[in-house]
Amino acid sequence: MSSVYLQTFGCQMNVADSNGLAYQAWSLGCTFTEEPGEADILIVNTCAIREKAETRVYGRLGQLKNIKRPGSKLLVAGCLAEKDRQVMQKKAPHVDALLGPREYRRFKQLLAQWGVPTDAPPPQTEMRAASAEDDPGHDGAAQFAHLRALVSITRGCEKFCTYCIVPYTRGPLESLDPEEIEAHIRREIRCGAKEITLLGQNVNSYIHGPTGLNFAGLLRRLSAIDGLERLTFLTSHPKDFDGDVVDALAQLPNVQPRLHLPVQCASNRVLAAMARLYTIEEYLEKIAYFRERLPRWALTTDLIVGFPGESEADFAQTLELVERGTFEAAFIFAYSPRSGTPAATMAAQVPPQEKIRRLQVLNTAQMQRTNDFHQSFIGETVPVIVSGPSKKDASRMAGKTGHNVTVVWPRDARSEHRPCVDIAVEQAYNWGLAGRVA
Ligand code: 5AD
Ligand code: SF4
Repeated sequence: MSSVYLQTFGCQMNVADSNGLAYQAWSLGCTFTEEPGEADILIVNTCAIREKAETRVYGRLGQLKNIKRPGSKLLVAGCLAEKDRQVMQKKAPHVDALLGPREYRRFKQLLAQWGVPTDAPPPQTEMRAASAEDDPGHDGAAQFAHLRALVSITRGCEKFCTYCIVPYTRGPLESLDPEEIEAHIRREIRCGAKEITLLGQNVNSYIHGPTGLNFAGLLRRLSAIDGLERLTFLTSHPKDFDGDVVDALAQLPNVQPRLHLPVQCASNRVLAAMARLYTIEEYLEKIAYFRERLPRWALTTDLIVGFPGESEADFAQTLELVERGTFEAAFIFAYSPRSGTPAATMAAQVPPQEKIRRLQVLNTAQMQRTNDFHQSFIGETVPVIVSGPSKKDASRMAGKTGHNVTVVWPRDARSEHRPCVDIAVEQAYNWGLAGRVA
C-alpha cells in the first residue's frame, strides 16, 4: 500500500483539485500521511498567480528534496507545473513528474507507473485524506474540513485579463454538466457537508451547452437539493454578473449573504488596460441593484495596485472607492508581472516600493470599513459553521458565519464536536469576531 503526502498552495480551485487527486489515490487504496519523510508519493499542488506564490513553492520543493526518502516520488501539480514545464527540470531536478491543471486524468496512470496497483477493489471505508494546508500546524481541523465543501462548476477561463496567468495554465472555459455537479453535491451532503461553495474562475460565465442552462438557472436548480443547508459561490466577474443572478439570490433561502465581485481598480483607464471589459460606472450600477435587493449582504472584492501605467490619480480613484465603504472586505494585491501575459511587457511599470506604499494605504483604508462591518455584529447571535480549534489559540474554537466572517469562542465540552453553533457576539476585531456559545 502506498502512502501519499499532499500539500496545497493557492486558491480554492487548487484545494478542490487536491481533493479530486486525493480521491483518486484513495480509490486505488493509497493511504495518507502528514509526514513527507514517510510518504512513498509526495504531491505539491502549486500556484503561479503572483511571484510570491511561486517563490514559496520553490522554497518548499527545496525543503522536500532533503526530507523525502530515497526512492519516493515527487509530483508537482497545478498552475506552476504548467507554467514552468520547460524550466522545472533545471530549477528542481528532484521533481519526478509534472501534471498541469488540465492533466489530472493522467494521474492514475502515473500512480500505476509508480507501482500503485490499479486492480484492487475500491476501499470499503470512508476517505480520510490528510491534506497538509498551506499554513501547517492547524491540528484538529481535519475532523471539520468536510463541513464546508468545494464543488467546481466550471474549469478554466478565457477572459484573458492582461495581468493574469490563469487562462494560460488552466485553459479555456468548460462548464460541467449539471447532473455531474448535482451528484457531487449530494455526495458531499452524504458525507456531512453543511455548506457548498460552487467554484469557477468566473462562475457567471457558466453555460450548459445542450440545455442553455445559465448560472442563475443552475443556482435555482442546485439550491433545491435536499439537505443543502448553505450555498455560496466563487468567483464572479462584473462583466457577466447581472440582475438575473441577483434576483435568483434574493429568492433562494439557503444562499449565504455574501458576494465576491472583484473590481480590481476604479480607474477606467486602468480597467481598459487590464481588459476587464467594464467601466467603473457599470460596476457601480450593478452593485447598486445588488445592494437594493440584498441589504446586509457582505460585498467583497479583489484589488490590484501598481498595474503598469497606474498614475497617482488612477490610484486616488481606487482609494476613494474603498474609503466610501463600498466593500465589507477586500483582498489587495501588488501587481506582479507574469511572463507571457501582455501586462508584463507594458511600459511604465510601477516601482516596487511605490506598489508597496499603495498597497499599505489601501489596506489601511479598507481596514476601517471592515472593522465597522464587524462592529455591527456586536450583540447579535450568529449561526456559525465550525472549522476547528483556533489556529492562534488552541483554547478556543473557530468558525465562519454566513457572511464568511471568522468567529472564535472559548472551547467547551458542549460545543466541542458540534458542526454548527450559535455564537453571541461580544467583541469585534479587524480579523473577525469573538463571543460565546449562545
Ligand atoms: N498580480 C497581482 N494580482 C493578481 N491577481 C491575478 N493576477 C495577478 C497578478 N499578476 C489577483 C486578481 C485576482 C486575484 C485572484 O488575484 O486580483 O482577482
Ligand atoms: Fe484571471 Fe481575469 Fe480569468 Fe479572473 S477573469 S481568472 S483575473 S483572466
